[in-house]
Amino acid sequence: MTKRPHELNDPVEENRALQETESRIAIAGHPLHAMLVAFPIALTLSVLGADLFYWWTGDPFWPRVAGWAAFGAFLMGVVAGVTGTAELLIVPGIRNRSASWTHFILAVMLLSVMGANWAIRIGAPEAAVLPLGLMLSVLAAGLTVVTGWHGGKLVFDYQIGTRR
Ligand code: HEM
Repeated sequence: MTKRPHELNDPVEENRALQETESRIAIAGHPLHAMLVAFPIALTLSVLGADLFYWWTGDPFWPRVAGWAAFGAFLMGVVAGVTGTAELLIVPGIRNRSASWTHFILAVMLLSVMGANWAIRIGAPEAAVLPLGLMLSVLAAGLTVVTGWHGGKLVFDYQIGTRR
């Protein structure tokens, strides 16, 4: 039995959704994730800065700064991660590109290091800095650079999050 035209499979039509990469978690087309990631990036680098200042000066002011910055970095990292994950799961063209999942894996590793870097400081911010706190801060800063660079690659190289 022959198929009628409307019963034919059209691969172009079927895969049209894969071309759709426009951000949906956005305000007037501007992705929330891109707005939010500035906070964990800046706060993670601030934790490293505060740890280095404490190592250099021994002033107990810096571990308290580092503790609060580590809390903010983790909290805002999770908030940014939630918007990114929603985007990843909802938009077919983002979900279907392997680069998006690479960014997700990098980000989840980063968020776990950020969480640990905050948790070890609770109640004993000064004792936590040397050496473990500083080591976690260096690791978090390195992962932030890689994850942030890779996020930019998603947008500027693969047009993920943009309107085609
Ligand atoms: C936890 C899961 C995460 C997922 C699933 C995710 C997903 C995404 C997606 C889909 C984009 C493309 C733009 C868009 O659609 O909004 C993006 C961009 C980006 N992401 Fe993430 N992300 C996550 C966490 C993070 C974290 C923690 C950082 C912080 C280092 C980060 C840094 C970036 C940057 C810098 C961009 C480029 C923004 C731009 O220039 O427009 N992401 N991410």
